[in-house]
Amino acid sequence: DALTVGVDVGGTKIAAGVVDGTGKLLQHTRRETPAQDTRGVLSGIADAVRELAATHDIAAVGIGAAGFVDAARSTVMFAPNLAWRDENLRASLTAQLDLPVVVENDANAAAWAESRFGAGRDHDDLAAITIGTGVGGGLVVGGRLLRGGFGVASEIGHITMVPYGRRCGCGLQGCWEQYGSGRALVTEAREIARHSPAFAAGLLADAGGDPDGISGEMVTAAAQRGDVGALHCFDEIGRWIGLGLAQLAAVLDPSLFVIGGGVSTAGEVLRSRVEDTFRGHLTGRGHRPVAEVRLAELGWEAGMVGAADLARTHRDTAVSGR
Ligand code: BGC
Ligand code: NA
Ligand code: ZN
Repeated sequence: DALTVGVDVGGTKIAAGVVDGTGKLLQHTRRETPAQDTRGVLSGIADAVRELAATHDIAAVGIGAAGFVDAARSTVMFAPNLAWRDENLRASLTAQLDLPVVVENDANAAAWAESRFGAGRDHDDLAAITIGTGVGGGLVVGGRLLRGGFGVASEIGHITMVPYGRRCGCGLQGCWEQYGSGRALVTEAREIARHSPAFAAGLLADAGGDPDGISGEMVTAAAQRGDVGALHCFDEIGRWIGLGLAQLAAVLDPSLFVIGGGVSTAGEVLRSRVEDTFRGHLTGRGHRPVAEVRLAELGWEAGMVGAADLARTHRDTAVSGR
């Protein structure tokens, strides 16, 4: 069975791994990348793939990128939180690597991995939410990844949750990811530290007294030990995420929601809050089946494993550029 490489390209790092047909990660490598340096990101990807290809026989490469990927799965048209604009990753990378390359949205790749090998392996209709810097989505409908008419279905982070609300990197205001992301969690924590220092005493102590020193990891760790200020921050983002799931359920009726991404390492602290609000805002509640809300199982590997698997299944149709 052929091996493929999956690459997860985020704001600050590139993670690349060799994956087999069962979704098993055999070897991986990482690179740091400056978010604004698109050329640096490209050479970082190529370099990471070359390192892995030196010791494994690779059939294709899948890239999971945090942006709007075109229907041909070649070009990142736009990335709200990265500098990419009409960046034809496939053309650049096939030229450098001499391998078939498929470009996917990062959250689509993660959703695919969870549906094939993770929390959703027993479901054919699921919505996976990736909660990191932004809010990403991946929708599996009847066992297939929903791509939409132009390749950019499931940009759920940019659903308007608050009309004329907080500014978003996408150019709109009030997008879901401004309220339900890791960045929103940190914003909330720093705000209470600034305005209600007594309430945020635990968080402030962890950050050496500086509100701006509070990180997402600190909020998560503090919530785990029952810190009231940190739990309040999870109340906030959990509510927004749950509210969003209820909207998705009204349109898509998935049987399962999978909550993944960096913020989901908070585990039950996050999941239970999301589920409470989701159930409370679900249309027809009391008269319909209610989708389960589960935590993702594949952790930081999901993007890589999903991109690698999508590269495997599409490698016959992928344009290699040769
Ligand atoms: C982007 C998506 C991406 C998500 C998670 C959003 O801001 O629009 O394309 O999947 O962040 O990285
Ligand atoms: Na997506
Ligand atoms: Zn937006």
